[in-house]
Amino acid sequence: MVGKYATETLLADKGGIDRAAAILRDGGLVAVPTETVYGLAARADDDRAVARIYEAKGRPSFNPLIVHVRDMKQARRLAQLTPEAEALAAAHWPGSLTLVVPRKADSGLADAVTAGLPTVALRMPDHPLMRALLAEVDFPVAAPSANRSGFISPTSANHVLASLGGRIDAVLDGGECRSGVESTIVAVREFGQLEILRPGPVTIATGQAPVPGDGIEAPGQLASHYAPGKPVRLNAAEVAPDDFTIGFGAMPGDCTLSASGDLEEAAARLYACLHLGAASEKPRIAVAPIPEEGIGVAINDRLRRAATPPD
Ligand code: TXA
Ligand code: MG
Repeated sequence: MVGKYATETLLADKGGIDRAAAILRDGGLVAVPTETVYGLAARADDDRAVARIYEAKGRPSFNPLIVHVRDMKQARRLAQLTPEAEALAAAHWPGSLTLVVPRKADSGLADAVTAGLPTVALRMPDHPLMRALLAEVDFPVAAPSANRSGFISPTSANHVLASLGGRIDAVLDGGECRSGVESTIVAVREFGQLEILRPGPVTIATGQAPVPGDGIEAPGQLASHYAPGKPVRLNAAEVAPDDFTIGFGAMPGDCTLSASGDLEEAAARLYACLHLGAASEKPRIAVAPIPEEGIGVAINDRLRRAATPPD
């Protein structure tokens, strides 16, 4: 894609990580693999670098970013971690859990990162390349999913380039993401109450059903998101010849999420199948039923939003 920048593809080695770190130090944008999806990284302590994320993604300025940390010391410098937050971090970090916690007044974070909210979303990722990068720089890293706002999230370097090529400085190519759906987001409220803002790979018992976001908190929870740009039909029992079919288990499809009916595999392949469906000449996408259990809850959450037409 022709754009303002010649987007470099960096290899998953020491040279690639050093170059990615240098671009971040200079306030640039690098797409980096995490175990969930690729993130569009910028230094979180620099207003201009953070502004570039919003610009490259076409993201509304009211939608705050997740801040990625390398260790607990860095997390505690940025936010007030209650005993409940500490316990969740101890149980699930590094990993696919994001904690929404009160931001410290002297966090040093760029204001745009939290879009004016008094809270900040923190995550310690579990991917060797992202962790190596975080270890090399002395600032926390803001990284939303590396796609144009509202479209399908990227689980490969090619997905990133198709969406943001020419709009960012580089992509660090770490192959396909292991988990494939974005982190679980949990808000840790006053008095230790937990609220699930987005279902994901980490399942947490809160004693409550997930609460839909109100459009300011976790706008990723807006009704239409992950959009492939054509109609999507869920729980398809019958398919037409001009449907691009996404299968699961016994239903094979043009792209199968998992022929053996394995939900973890289905999560890892979800966005790749949606990308193929979006690129296909067929005018519609039909998706097989997916069991609403375990990570299937997160898969169905993303599919429902992909099936909801934009306003
Ligand atoms: O797995 C992931 O979480 C990936 C990788 C790159 O880490 N990141 C990701 O970022 O999915 P993004 O920007 O696509 O989604 C972050 C979500 C958004 O829905 C945003 O509204 C919400 O987190 N969020 C960020 N800060 C928040 C805050 N302070 N309070 C509530 N929600 C927040
Ligand atoms: Mg996203």
